[in-house]
Amino acid sequence: MEKLQSISSLVLSARPDNPLHIFRPGAVDKAACFFQSHFQGKVLYAVKTNPEPCILKQLYQLGITSFDVASLEEIRLVHEVLPQAHLHFMHTIKSRRAIREAYHEYGVRDFSLDSKEELQKILEETNQANDLNLYVRLAIPNTYAELNLADKFGATLKEAAELLRATRSHAVSLGICFHVGSQCMHPDAYRIAIRMAAKVIRESKVKVDALDVGGGFPSIYPGMMPPEMDHFFAAIHEEFAKIRGSKEMTLMCEPGRALVAESGSVIVKVELRKGDRLYINDGTYGSLFDAGTPHFIFPVKLIRPESGVAQKEVIPFSFFGPTCDTLDFMKGPFYLPEDVREGDYIEVGQLGAYGRTLATRFNGFAAENDLAWVSDAPLMTMYSGVHSQEPLEVIAA
Ligand SMILES: Cc1ncc(COP(=O)(O)O)c(C=O)c1O
Repeated sequence: MEKLQSISSLVLSARPDNPLHIFRPGAVDKAACFFQSHFQGKVLYAVKTNPEPCILKQLYQLGITSFDVASLEEIRLVHEVLPQAHLHFMHTIKSRRAIREAYHEYGVRDFSLDSKEELQKILEETNQANDLNLYVRLAIPNTYAELNLADKFGATLKEAAELLRATRSHAVSLGICFHVGSQCMHPDAYRIAIRMAAKVIRESKVKVDALDVGGGFPSIYPGMMPPEMDHFFAAIHEEFAKIRGSKEMTLMCEPGRALVAESGSVIVKVELRKGDRLYINDGTYGSLFDAGTPHFIFPVKLIRPESGVAQKEVIPFSFFGPTCDTLDFMKGPFYLPEDVREGDYIEVGQLGAYGRTLATRFNGFAAENDLAWVSDAPLMTMYSGVHSQEPLEVIAA
């Protein structure tokens, strides 16, 4: 097994001029093992969160062999990296071509929908297939989530019972799915959603074979300390058990953020300081989109490449990214030693989810392809003391 480097030794030897993207395989290991051993159902991974092939392979190795995909491109990617993986096409509005290719070329049989029109499209493009697993997505309140997905997707409670009835006769397996919103901060969100699903099942009077509670499981950020993950699972298990017929139903979840957030960091360089504003070389058009308008505060750590120890006292800073747009601003506060200066590096953590994957090439600041694999612990963790039985084989740095 190859020994992984530490972030500080990497930075000191490479002195990178561009943002350096970091990957911690150990963090994926811990999160995946936690889900696999505590969630009493099937765990899928939401590929959009971070589609890096090394992550897909690692999750597969750890027993997460089913993937929630949202586009033809994601289907192609997972199929290429893991030809045996089970794909669930869980975007409720798909192009006809995507449905056709997914079914006929990539063997996808699991599709979600939230309207009769989409059901019709799926049936037409699969030539009225009789081997489909279909999931009706419910619109549910996203009250406890930092990022709301409720307005865009889902059938209302009124529509859902009828849609379940219409879908039943076309599905080998019929499921209900929902999303409580991303970075969900309270287990009650799942309780409420599962109760709503139970009500729709009762009203529909048809047999439902699966409940997919979606993603939304939180990670941990400064100022956003969620309850322990066990509480989310306990709420789900309890409410699921109350559904009539649940013993014959499959319980599923499709987390993204909670599985991979801790595995990624970006190392940025301070290009200039103006008082409490730091001009850095990555920003909201790069891997720090969520630090902009969604206003996530990511954990930070100073890495000083020159001799001389940074001061211990920390004060709040805001960041500006490298592009010419004033929206390329990250308010923070990001607490760093008060003598931060040009040439210092900063590790920005918890960026394994919705980090580099959201980066654009705007203004010519494209994210580099390489990921540096490191052994460091994440800056913050939901999963202390969890790891797989066997040390993971490190495939490549
Ligand atoms: C259908 C679906 N499933 C799962 C996820 C993953 O959500 P999260 O990263 O909040 O766990 C998303 C995120 O948008 C989604 O749209």
